[in-house]
Amino acid sequence: MGNNRRDFLKMAAMAGLSIPAANALYAKGLDDEKNFGVLPKRIEEYQTNHKQRFNMSGYAAPKISTVRMGIIGTGNRGSHHAGTISRVSDVEIKAAADVLPERFERIKKNLENTDHNPEYYSGSDDAWKELCERKDLDLILITTPTYMHASMAVYAMEQGKHVITEVPAAVTIDECWDLVKTSERTKKHCMMMENYSFMPFHITTLNMAKQGFFGDIVHGDGAYNTSKMGNNFGKNMYWNMWWLRMYGSRKGNIYPTHGMGPIAQMMNINRGDRFDLMVSMESNDFMMQGKAKELAEDDPFFEEFTKMEYRGNMSSMLIKTKQGRTLNIQHDATSPSPHNLIHGVYGTKGAVLFDPAPPRISTGNHKWTDKKTYDELIEKYKPGLLHKFEDFRKGLGADLKSGHGGSDLINVWHIIDCLRTGLPLDQDVYDAAAFSSVVELSEWSVLNNSNSIKVPDFTAGAWKTNKPNMDINLENGSGDTRIFG
Ligand SMILES: NC(=O)c1ccc[n+]([C@@H]2O[C@H](COP(=O)([O-])OP(=O)(O)OC[C@H]3O[C@@H](n4cnc5c(N)ncnc54)[C@H](O)[C@@H]3O)[C@@H](O)[C@H]2O)c1
Repeated sequence: MGNNRRDFLKMAAMAGLSIPAANALYAKGLDDEKNFGVLPKRIEEYQTNHKQRFNMSGYAAPKISTVRMGIIGTGNRGSHHAGTISRVSDVEIKAAADVLPERFERIKKNLENTDHNPEYYSGSDDAWKELCERKDLDLILITTPTYMHASMAVYAMEQGKHVITEVPAAVTIDECWDLVKTSERTKKHCMMMENYSFMPFHITTLNMAKQGFFGDIVHGDGAYNTSKMGNNFGKNMYWNMWWLRMYGSRKGNIYPTHGMGPIAQMMNINRGDRFDLMVSMESNDFMMQGKAKELAEDDPFFEEFTKMEYRGNMSSMLIKTKQGRTLNIQHDATSPSPHNLIHGVYGTKGAVLFDPAPPRISTGNHKWTDKKTYDELIEKYKPGLLHKFEDFRKGLGADLKSGHGGSDLINVWHIIDCLRTGLPLDQDVYDAAAFSSVVELSEWSVLNNSNSIKVPDFTAGAWKTNKPNMDINLENGSGDTRIFG
């Protein structure tokens, strides 16, 4: 397949195809490439020719006093984010777009009794572009199906907007490079909202890593293992059954970032280390096609899903870093076993393990600590960001609950505060690209007898000198952005 993604999308647009239809066709084309081993060669050629235009690592954009936002995609996640954002000061949701106008009901409900009164865009697959073109927006949040994120993010940055996008930020290597090139050219932030990196235990363990608790980190196990069978086969759960279609058309880890992101942060990926190569293997599908057949017996709606070749139920990948560390990342959305993020991180002096509960810490004496020592260590290494969060909680006298163990609110609050104060964001476009690149790389590896493949260096060598960020101790300070109850 000679065309690159952009040429392909241009052709598709000329042929009147929508983004989802074009992406579906492109994914088919990618299969040809993978089977003929073209991807590793293309990665190598691209790497050789790519020069970094501007280093976005540590980049601080000019301050924005009130952050004016637009949201693309107001389904489950977009509506939820809107509710979370409404609890943060100095941000205004001015616009929201969705291809289905009925999807505005939930966001409207979540914004009832708040100061946010967005203008709504719908009516075509491309109505979101009008939102991006508005002159009075600073930041675009993308919460559409995963395979739309990158093209929407590129367009938004080209319209002069900072971008925060749901996970993963991209689903192909070409898209990852598009994000990097566009962010460097426009000097607009492109941050993936890897919210699990902000879960209290996870940022505390990141602080432990920063303070040297682990000695040298050698290895990390991470996962997003949680049964989504009910959701994925739910008729009204997701737009156009997009998750089921993904599981039925792709291989490899299509949802890698929750397991990987927090560990990659602890290993200073893109800032002193980087992903070097990876391999991936997956089980067969033992559950999804069977479920589709069972449902189709009573409901012809599921007939088309009985013919899909589902991704294996358990996807595993191993990544080796340039500094010789390893990551073992799993994704399983089918097993009825308990939700499991693992988050096991092992160093020369200490270790932690989040799942299965209860979370544990080892000081490197072949044992997990007792509860009292565990509590003392968690308190000792609690990062400034969590202290600040607790100050809000005490000030409000309220339990500041939010999705995913509070991480959704902490994540959004800190993004807004950094934009308002003129500080670098916690993650940058190189993180978005590296963490998302394994979607296609793992697929390639599965399709090629679990062979290893090189991970692109999206920083073009700058990882050697980039400084650690994710300022969880607020060493660069913080602004006056507040959280409401
Ligand atoms: N970080 C997390 O914890 C977390 C949790 C859940 C989902 N997610 C991510 O959030 C994203 C959205 O997931 P979801 O569960 O909300 O899915 P969803 O199907 O509920 O929402 C997607 C929305 O996008 C809309 N959409 C489709 N095409 C569009 C277009 N051309 N223009 C505008 N809108 C369009 C759909 O109508 C739908 O409302 C995904 O990327 C998913 O990976 C992240």
